[in-house]
Amino acid sequence: MDANINNTEVKKKTIFSGIQPSGNLTIGNYLGALKNWVGLQKDYNCLFCSVDMHSITVRQTPAELRRRSVETLALYMAAGIDPEENILFIQSHVPAHAELAWVLNCYTMFGELSRMTQFKEKSQRHSENINAGLFTYPALMAADILLYQTDLVPVGLDQKQHLELTRDIANRFNGVYGDTFTVPEPYIQKIGMKIMSLTEPEKKMSKSDLSGGSVGILDKRDDIVRKIKRAVTDSGSEVRYSEDKPGVSNLLTIYCAFTGKTIEEAEKEFDGQGYGTFKAAVAEVCADALGVLQDRYNEILKDKDYLNTMLKNNAERAAYLARKTLSKVYRKIGFYQPK
Ligand code: TRP
Repeated sequence: MDANINNTEVKKKTIFSGIQPSGNLTIGNYLGALKNWVGLQKDYNCLFCSVDMHSITVRQTPAELRRRSVETLALYMAAGIDPEENILFIQSHVPAHAELAWVLNCYTMFGELSRMTQFKEKSQRHSENINAGLFTYPALMAADILLYQTDLVPVGLDQKQHLELTRDIANRFNGVYGDTFTVPEPYIQKIGMKIMSLTEPEKKMSKSDLSGGSVGILDKRDDIVRKIKRAVTDSGSEVRYSEDKPGVSNLLTIYCAFTGKTIEEAEKEFDGQGYGTFKAAVAEVCADALGVLQDRYNEILKDKDYLNTMLKNNAERAAYLARKTLSKVYRKIGFYQPK
């Protein structure tokens, strides 16, 4: 019995996720993903990587990229993701990502890359800079994932096609050289909490929506309160969760996610009260919770020595794991390695 327990503990599954270093994550990202990942750290080996090498496929302001690469990870830490229990690191700190990406480029077909909808969409949006990196971006993403023998990748819909391609590349390579890579699966969240836009509750809350529809994790208190008070509600005046009340239902979801209450409890709490009172309460719990998170975030960012030490240590931990896979790949494809 004991041996069995130990056995399952040794075989913790690996989760990898890459995050583009852009500072404006929303409460949708926080409640839908980040907050739930805090609960995963015990059961999985998690790697969270700030993917600065992916970001330069479109032009970046260097100072901003530098700042955001670290800030993104600090936000994860502020949300409760422990940098010792997990591996939080910056992609460019681990050279094996670039090295494996080159190899995988040679096992990824032009036709496959041409079919990627994100490439098609981005090359329209950045028609003045359709560079080779933008085209081969999925091979780098495959390298990120395959380097760590990843079992599960939490992905949104927009990244599903890239994950499919990663699986195809892994299977292709394994087919030629024998088992080398774990073939990753998408990680579908069990508690799938989807936060919708405050102004158009039929649409998902988006980090590129700079108008009133999205609440940023780092928004100021006044802005949070103003946006929630202006959120679209529905006809009627009853605070009730239902399909024909997408605005109110969304606010109820947000309220419950922050307070831990159930929908029924919240409905009872606001029974007979108007939308005004309800919205003020949602704004309050949201602003309070984000306030706590922001304080922690600012504390973390202040301690640059700690952050830098953490980044170096974690890059080393990641590099150690990545090296193992890379050596295996180099050996299999026929690169000479002196002993
Ligand atoms: N392409 C992903 C995005 O734009 C980011 C990413 C890079 C990623 N490498 C990854 C996500 C590996 C998951 C796993 O959101």
